[in-house]
This record gives sequence, structure tokens and C-alpha cells, in this order.
Amino acid sequence: MSVCIGIDIGTSGTKALAMDAQGNILAEASASYPCHHPKPLWSEQNPDDWWKATVKTVRAVVKQAKLKPADVAAIGLSGQMHGAVFLDRQNKVIRPAILWNDQRTAAECEEIERRVGGRKRLIKMVANPALTGFTAPKILWLRNHEPRNFQRTVKVLLPKDEIRRRLTGEFATEVSDASGTLLLDVVKRKWSKKLLGKLELDSSLLPPCYESEEVTGKLTKEVAKNLGLSTDCVVVGGAGDCAAGAIGNGIVRRGLLGTSLGTSGVVFAHSDQPQFDPQGRLHTFCHAVRGKWHLMGVTLTAGGSLGWFQDAFCTDAKGKTISFKKLIAEAEQTPTGAEGIQFLPYLSGERTPHLDPHARGAFIGLTLKHSRGHLVRSILEGVTFSLRDCLCIMQDLGVPIRQIRASGGGAKSPFWRQMQADIFGKPVTSMVADEGAAYGVALIAAVGAGNFKNISEACKATIKTAEQSKPNAKTRKVYDRKFPVFQGLYKALRPEYPKLEE
Ligand code: XUL
Repeated sequence: MSVCIGIDIGTSGTKALAMDAQGNILAEASASYPCHHPKPLWSEQNPDDWWKATVKTVRAVVKQAKLKPADVAAIGLSGQMHGAVFLDRQNKVIRPAILWNDQRTAAECEEIERRVGGRKRLIKMVANPALTGFTAPKILWLRNHEPRNFQRTVKVLLPKDEIRRRLTGEFATEVSDASGTLLLDVVKRKWSKKLLGKLELDSSLLPPCYESEEVTGKLTKEVAKNLGLSTDCVVVGGAGDCAAGAIGNGIVRRGLLGTSLGTSGVVFAHSDQPQFDPQGRLHTFCHAVRGKWHLMGVTLTAGGSLGWFQDAFCTDAKGKTISFKKLIAEAEQTPTGAEGIQFLPYLSGERTPHLDPHARGAFIGLTLKHSRGHLVRSILEGVTFSLRDCLCIMQDLGVPIRQIRASGGGAKSPFWRQMQADIFGKPVTSMVADEGAAYGVALIAAVGAGNFKNISEACKATIKTAEQSKPNAKTRKVYDRKFPVFQGLYKALRPEYPKLEE
């Protein structure tokens, strides 16, 4: 029993992989599902879709790797953070889950800060300000807008924890994902009774909270049979996808910083102590490593901007979707700066650095000269500038940066990776195997199963860096000139955005 399975419940799909005791990947599979936007800036998913994708991908890896039930010791769960799954007394899902990139809760964020006596006090209690994407404002939104649904709600679970419930029958979460609910005392790594009291929320709404590698339960008989696994297979706490992705890239030491470009874009810095941005633009969350924390900046629609552009505009004459590879190749043919187009990637509002639920996306500077390649290039540049915004705050706070490791779709493209080095003005390192959050939680599961002593040992034994992209002096100069323009355009548009909703 030495194989571990990592499952990541993402926004565009679920990925599962099986890993042997040495950290080698034996098999992997993924399955996608839709995201629904019933109103502009709203974002919902159906937990049944996550479950079907989980069953499909786990069965696929069991089959591909020819695993017998007794081979698999542990499962680790990772997932999109902050989403709220509302369950009734019979454990039925009451309404579609409200996701991390949903912006409906601006009034509830104000309500939270009012109830605790201001943002500063809230940051003292839970290390973070109230942000629309976080879970607590979603619970208040349900109470304010769907009171009958709220009355029926007996548990609120994060996406991966709803999958855990279906796998094991247990209610549980762990510290890294719980940090993003706004209800965790991040410094003490325990639910904040004080904040729950101020918000008049019953603590029984929340599941018990574990450290990431702790065992939270075993597969039920029925699930074990359905997946081809054993009832001895344990499910460990796991991690939110950002912390899990960071573990998958070995971001477990001071000085290491990760950038990840998936649907969202993340800049993640390991921290030995809880460290705060007094303005709350960066999140301070528990790391999946015991007794460690992280600082994180999030741009909500990163790869998601490119995905949106592809879905909305990029089909060939036969109606077939044009691949990212081809779109990026077209972008590569256009000059640095996309000949004067600037894209603002705020298609779902924005977190870092603006904390602005009303922000919207924009292409600015269009002329008759511009082609699709220019637009794609401006998307890549706009998204990368928004990561530079996160990086600048970290630098201002004195976060040590010894190495930047890039992962996700944005690291797979050598062009986008080089763009990161040019825009950050710093070398960017890629990883030998960039398997993301599913690999990170498989490693956490391996620690839970006793294959490694702790997470740092697991990373040391398995994670290897590959090549480094160094900034090109000429290109970097162009981007240094363009960055303040990018920042200025948001400032100019900020007062106009709320009027678009009137
Ligand atoms: C992190 C965040 C996103 C989601 C997406 O705070 O909101 O990165 O976890 O997967």
C-alpha cells in the first residue's frame, strides 16, 4: 500500500493522478465541467459535476495504472478555494455553489466590517479583510437574499470538502483552505469563535478543521467499491489549490516564491511567520506545511481571460475552436507592447491589488491596424502586469525573493514564461514536472500515509527545477515604461465602472 492519489477540484475541471512511494506519476486523468454566470460578475457550479468528474478521473487512473484496491494507501484533496456549498439536514445540496470569483457580496463585506468595528479589527481577528470572493460574505448573502435556503442550511463546505464528504461520509476541512473562509483565526489555526459570534453564525455550520496531512476519514464501502479502492484507503486533509500547487512546486522555504497561471493568477510566498499587508491587498493564509503561513496575491481572471477570448471569438471556418498554442504563436508574431493595446484583465472584478468587485475587463488603444495576435498578446501582457502588481506589494513589504518558480499554463508556454521574466525584471524558473495542485496533495497524502517524514522532506525528495528564463534587457525596458500606463488606466476607469451596472 504505497500509492497515493491526488485529486484537484478545479474551476474548469477536475484532475486526478496516482503517484508511487518515490513520487513518480503512474497515471493521470482529467474531466471538465461548465461554470455558470446567471448574472454579470456572478459565478456558480453544480457540486454533482465535481463529483461525477472525481469518480470518472479516479476510476481512469486506477485503470491506467492497473492498481489493485490494496495498492492505494491515501487520497489527498485539493480544490478551488472559497466556494460555498450549502447542505441541508439530509446532506442535500440546497443551491448551486457560489464560487471564488463571484462578486455578488459587496454589501455583505461592508456588513462584516461594520459588525466587527472596521477593517483593522477584522484583520486582527482573521488576518484578512472581507473580500467578495471569500466564503463568510457568501453565507451572509444567503441569509440576506435567500432566507429560506439559509434556514435549511446546516453545513457550509468548501468545494474539496464536499467531495471529501461524498468519499468518506465525514465533515472536515484543513487550515489552508479554511483560511480563505474569513472565519479562521489564521494565527492560531482554529475557527474564530469571536468572529462567528459577531456575525451571529452558529459554529456548527462549519466542519472540524485539521492540519493538511492529518487523516480525516476512510472511504465508505460503497465509494471504495465504485472507485476500485479499499475501505482502508485514508483521505488526508489536503489543501486549497494555491497551497497545494505551491507544495507541488516545492515552495516550502523562505525566499521561494511561486507564480501560477491557471483560471486565476497567483503569486505565492512562503512565510515562516504570519505576515500582513496592512491594506489587506495580499492574503495571509495558513500554509499546508505545519506551523507555516503564506502571503498571496490573486488576479481573478488570468488564464481565464485567454479562455474567455478563445470561447467568445476564436473558431476557424469550420467552427472548430482555435488552440491556445496557435493563438499564442500569433501573439508571438506581434511586437512587445502589442503596438499600443493594453488589456485590463478584470473580467470578474479584481482582488489584488484593487479589491474592487466593480472592476471590468477592457482592451484600450484599439486601431484598425490591430489583429487577433495583437489582442492575444495584450491579454498575456495585461495578465502578467497584474501579477507584477502582486509582486510589487510583496517587495514593498520586504518579502525576501530568492527564486521565482513559475507553474500552470503560463509556465508551459516558453513565450509567456519569458514574458514573466521580462515584466517582473527577474529570472523565472520552471519545474521539471509541473503537475500542479493534484501532485501537491498527492505528496501531502504520502506524508499522511507515512511514505515521507514531513512535507519538506517529500518536496526535497521529489521536486526538481528545470530551466531559467532571464529578463531580456531591451524588452524589460519597454515593459518598465508600459507598467505605469497599465496601472494608470485602471485608476482612470475606476470611477466609471460602477456606472456600468446602473
Ligand atoms: C485563491 C483563489 C483562486 C481559486 C482558484 O484565493 O481564489 O486561486 O482558488 O482556483
